[in-house]
Amino acid sequence: MKITSSEFVKSAVNLASYPAGELAEVALAGRSNVGKSSLLNKLVNRRGLARTSNTPGRTRLINFFLVNGLFYLVDLPGYGYAKVPVSERESWRRMIETYLKKRANLRGILLLIDSRHPPSAQDLQMYGWFKDNSLPVLVVATKVDKLSRSQLLRSMKVIRDSLSLSPEDALVPFSALTGQGREDLLDCIGRWAGITSKDHNSI
Ligand code: GTP
Ligand code: MG
Repeated sequence: MKITSSEFVKSAVNLASYPAGELAEVALAGRSNVGKSSLLNKLVNRRGLARTSNTPGRTRLINFFLVNGLFYLVDLPGYGYAKVPVSERESWRRMIETYLKKRANLRGILLLIDSRHPPSAQDLQMYGWFKDNSLPVLVVATKVDKLSRSQLLRSMKVIRDSLSLSPEDALVPFSALTGQGREDLLDCIGRWAGITSKDHNSI
């Protein structure tokens, strides 16, 4: 899939404020600071479209980005950031849960795992929940530019084993710095969003 346009449309906290309409949505989930917003920016090749930060907890709302005028990429707040007050963490959890449970437009989820660390208990819980609810999910190992080749191989095995991925389950190594993995993700997103080559030609 070729990206021809991308724009921020809106932030939302609850069902009532999600964008109206039937366009497909693909969401980015993962713990705080794992690289969700950076991945989104790299996918659409626009630095700074989604706000990123060294400080975990940057994305605090559900942000909708319209891509090619055809589907939305949805940047979710991260989970598992201990320094956020419990009350706020609880409100984020509810925000994410409501979106994932109730949003009919949702076609698939990229679950991001930091390639430098083993998946957390919450990562495992999230992945299990997607599977239990038959939501299409693709696991992405982020920040792979920070690892040597042998470290990466080891890390991919740890992620595969912890999540009990089967050999047919894809695990995409990704770097927002080098763009590694970008084409694989775009192919998957295009399939989920039902983008055909005819859509490409018409833009
Ligand atoms: P929250 O919004 O807090 O949930 O975080 P996030 O998951 O959106 O992470 P974000 O994209 O803001 O990135 C967090 C930090 O990791 C930033 O300092 C990024 O520059 C850095 N980062 C993200 N992706 C990569 C990557 O592929 N390689 C490297 N080296 N750094 C990355
Ligand atoms: Mg973010």
